[in-house]
Amino acid sequence: MTTLPSESPSASTSSTPSSPPIINYDTDGYDYRSYWNGRSYENWAERRVIRRWLAHQPPIDWLVDLGGGFGRNIPLYLQYAHHVVLADYSWTNLTNAASTLLANPANSGRVFLLRVNLYHTPFRDAAFDVGMTVRVLHHLIATDAALAEMGRAIGSAWLLDVPSRHHLLAQARLLAHGKRPSYGDHRPLDIGTPEEPYMSYDLGVIRQELTRLGWSSRLVASVANFRRWERVVPRPAQPLARPIVYGAEVVGQQVGRGWWGPSQWLGLTRPRATLAAVAPQGDAPEEWRALAPRLWCPSCHSELTWSAAGPRCAACQRDFEQRDHIIDFVVS
Ligand SMILES: C[S@@+](CC[C@H](N)C(=O)[O-])C[C@H]1O[C@@H](n2cnc3c(N)ncnc32)[C@H](O)[C@@H]1O
Ligand SMILES: [Zn+2]
Repeated sequence: MTTLPSESPSASTSSTPSSPPIINYDTDGYDYRSYWNGRSYENWAERRVIRRWLAHQPPIDWLVDLGGGFGRNIPLYLQYAHHVVLADYSWTNLTNAASTLLANPANSGRVFLLRVNLYHTPFRDAAFDVGMTVRVLHHLIATDAALAEMGRAIGSAWLLDVPSRHHLLAQARLLAHGKRPSYGDHRPLDIGTPEEPYMSYDLGVIRQELTRLGWSSRLVASVANFRRWERVVPRPAQPLARPIVYGAEVVGQQVGRGWWGPSQWLGLTRPRATLAAVAPQGDAPEEWRALAPRLWCPSCHSELTWSAAGPRCAACQRDFEQRDHIIDFVVS
């Protein structure tokens, strides 16, 4: 998909085609859970930032995990938010999330699983107090459209993980290949394929776009600064190296903000927007009743009418199928 070439940080991050390509994590039976085997350091590094950021938020009623995958971070979110909505495109990830999260009776009425396209979500404006977007932005090639649509659903606070193209290792690699550092190049860097979009960005450009959308941004942390350190340090030395790496990560998360790691996390706030909740029409099934007032048709933004079969948009005549406690809001 096309990206606008730009030399200036004030330029748009991306074009906004109406149907940008979406990565399908379900291709070839892929199970994203396997990616996390042997990545306890990265998991720990992310959880440290999430925990610290959430602990500084006022009490959270509704939180949305945008592109939440199989719900890796949902148990952590549930420690801070009363209701958590996991929104993702992948059936496999959502089904895996259902098998773990919904099997726990303590999560009944608190965890909701929706299949969505992040470019066209079923969420009303400011449907959630807090939003989380972790390891997702690199897939959203029509970045401006995605930021606008995700941000629209969030009332006041958003933790956004931005893949930076100017991180230290990338610059060191350029130098090692006899090339100049790329700091002056503010364009999104596209290293994906049409089937598997994969981008990294100039942090300044992303922040500028978020400012334009009404968000104030703060650099919260540089995360997983020693990604794959286990591959470099010989196995016998790892027990000795581990506390050193973890200690350095704690320091790096602070001092590396904006330049060190490939994963730069922004804390975003805006003057609190209020949800104009509308009592849902029809009779929403018990398991969806709390969430229903926060949803509308992802295609035409009209009211949904609820029945035991699930929600339906009378305006555009679409039925949204519910299967295994997941509602499919993807409009093809
Ligand atoms: C690398 S995974 C990260 C999952 C989760 N946030 C985590 O950190 O464990 C990226 C996720 O984004 C989802 N995704 C990518 N593009 C999407 C889109 N346009 N709409 C909805 N989900 C999308 C994928 O299905 C996948 O589950
Ligand atoms: Zn509709």
